[in-house]
Amino acid sequence: MELLPVQLRAIRYEAEGISTFEFRSTGAQPLPPFTAGAHIDLHLASGLVRSYSLCNSQDESDRYVVGVNRDRNSRGGSRLMHDTLKVGTVLNISAPRNNFPLDETAPHSMLIGGGIGITPMLCMLRRLESLGRPWTLHYCARNRASAAFVDELTALQAGSKVGTLHLHFDDESNGQFLSLQKVVAEAPAGAHFYCCGPLPMLAAYEEATRDLPPGRMHVEYFSAKEAPSTSGGFVVELANSGKTIEVPEGKTILDMLLDAGVDVPYSCMEGVCASCETRVIEGVPDHRDLVLTKEEQASNKVMMVCCSGSKSPKLVLDL
Ligand code: FES
Repeated sequence: MELLPVQLRAIRYEAEGISTFEFRSTGAQPLPPFTAGAHIDLHLASGLVRSYSLCNSQDESDRYVVGVNRDRNSRGGSRLMHDTLKVGTVLNISAPRNNFPLDETAPHSMLIGGGIGITPMLCMLRRLESLGRPWTLHYCARNRASAAFVDELTALQAGSKVGTLHLHFDDESNGQFLSLQKVVAEAPAGAHFYCCGPLPMLAAYEEATRDLPPGRMHVEYFSAKEAPSTSGGFVVELANSGKTIEVPEGKTILDMLLDAGVDVPYSCMEGVCASCETRVIEGVPDHRDLVLTKEEQASNKVMMVCCSGSKSPKLVLDL
């Protein structure tokens, strides 16, 4: 996988525990373009790779901006970003990829962001504004102090002819979460829904949108809902070399590929970023990812090797 060197040019405090990090090209060349909802993988020191949604406008070709929450349960990525990254540092990133694209033809876009899940929504909202397409944003946070971009969102809405902003702070609502059932029930006809936030919010969102046609419901997870498949007991054949690798109990396919020195891209290692998407030539994967649609999973044409296992004794992969 080709990596791109970028320089960290600015770090900006946005809210309690949340900062934005602005990266620019190290040379004169423009950065690869992206579309609203896209993310980049940051290759941090000590081999850590982390994915973050872009929150700046897709019309900007000179910078990438990501918002990062200093997660108390951090596996190292957000802590490293907040505590050790210095302005001026050069690091490698992947080109932007989009697992959460915006349907720009929708009659109305309902954006629902919880906590740091606001970052892709901000990018989408900027795009909808520039297209003049109607949007509603519901932004939920524990309290005002932990809500990033509120001034910017308020200013955006004040100057908008097509947008409506609703802020929901749990501590100002007697600890009540926003009713997503109500949001969905009261949305304009034909609206598309987008949600990114913590797991309980995404579970409530999936429940509230259960009866919608799948094409109108869009979701982005930033952590896994279930453990990766490590039941093992199958073999993986690499179609390009003919090499066969056994996957024993307790290991993922990615573990075994890396052990065997196979160059396979990966980032989140929990089925949410699609970095490790691999074409399946033969066999039936046991899909555990949260990026493929149900239809894509059922077709068994691709799989995420970091978290998915196999229902058949052998998988032949395009590696
Ligand atoms: S590494 Fe992120 S989906 Fe596999």
